[in-house]
Amino acid sequence: MKVAILGFGTVGVGVYEMLEKCAGLEPGPVLVRPGKADKPFKVTSIEAIVDDPSVGAVAEVMGGIEPANTYVAMALKAGKHVVTSNKALVAAHGIELCELARINGVSFLFSAACGGGVPFLHNLAIAAQSDKILSLGGILNGTTNFMLDAMQSEGKDYADVLKQAQALGYAEADPTADVSGLDALRKIMLACAVAYDKLPVDGFSREGIESITAADVADFQARGLTCRLITSGGPAGDSVYAYVEPVLFPASSPECAVVKNFNMAKYNGENAGAIVLMGQGAGRYPTASAVVRDLCGLGSLEMFRPACVEVRADNSNCVHSYYVRVNADKADRFSFAESKAAGNAVRGVTVPMAVPVMHAIAEDIRNEGGSIFFAAMEG
Ligand code: HSE
Repeated sequence: MKVAILGFGTVGVGVYEMLEKCAGLEPGPVLVRPGKADKPFKVTSIEAIVDDPSVGAVAEVMGGIEPANTYVAMALKAGKHVVTSNKALVAAHGIELCELARINGVSFLFSAACGGGVPFLHNLAIAAQSDKILSLGGILNGTTNFMLDAMQSEGKDYADVLKQAQALGYAEADPTADVSGLDALRKIMLACAVAYDKLPVDGFSREGIESITAADVADFQARGLTCRLITSGGPAGDSVYAYVEPVLFPASSPECAVVKNFNMAKYNGENAGAIVLMGQGAGRYPTASAVVRDLCGLGSLEMFRPACVEVRADNSNCVHSYYVRVNADKADRFSFAESKAAGNAVRGVTVPMAVPVMHAIAEDIRNEGGSIFFAAMEG
């Protein structure tokens, strides 16, 4: 089958190269921006793809919501299967695009949108048909994992490691999506929709790694702890919980062994128990491999089922103790189980508190011009 590609950036080039070697698939026309069509296989209009009867499937790897949404809808309406790595698109329009695929008798698959090369959504979609998924999440952003690992193991600066992650093709076009936790949040939104038929669209708690400093890393290293950016999701009454925040793990935790751009995606099935999937969560070939894997499995799987609806996330029953570094004059906002003042800052570990409460206090402190870093304590 001939596969057209929308976008020829980091992932697009990887998909093209893989399709050249993949039995049963071949690369078709590649949509690029006007002025970039320097090779005969490159086209600059979506019509050249959707009107081409020899094209059986489209790989959308251009990123962003528009025009990707319009182009994907056009391709589905034209009876082409669509595979995408675009989590922003699926988080915003996944339910309607899956419905459009069903109406037109084609597949709309997006394994590559969550976990890079790790087949998380694929496995979750299969598991959700036969088992009750009790919880899911894990390390789902390669850029921040690479950064946290390099800061901790090599003592590098935040700005340096971010530049390195961008140069290696791990970060989004705007890396704010990675470091703010938005990219990881979109992935947990998709995972909840696959597992629970509930796509959380608001009510989230999201904290990235933008506030972390070398002094924070040194302090939790001295405590024998390792920081990772963690996504958490699961059922919550008629809704789901879904949040992203840094978490500190003791040295014995498997998360400490997740280094570089790797992801560790987890789900807990009522019958299967804990399932852990590890692999490269970002980068050209890992992500391209997930796109091509979906292309090889067209017709065999539905990721958002017809019952999938939008919900408001409910994190109110999720509770953790938090490691906090905060300006001394804001420290009275917390009940610390233990704390220590050093200069103008207080560092400590709070008594257990609800996730939305912790995130709201941090937001207040920042709105008042204060500075804070926080991370949940594992266990
Ligand atoms: N920017 C993403 C990450 C790419 O670092 O995980 C893969 O989704």
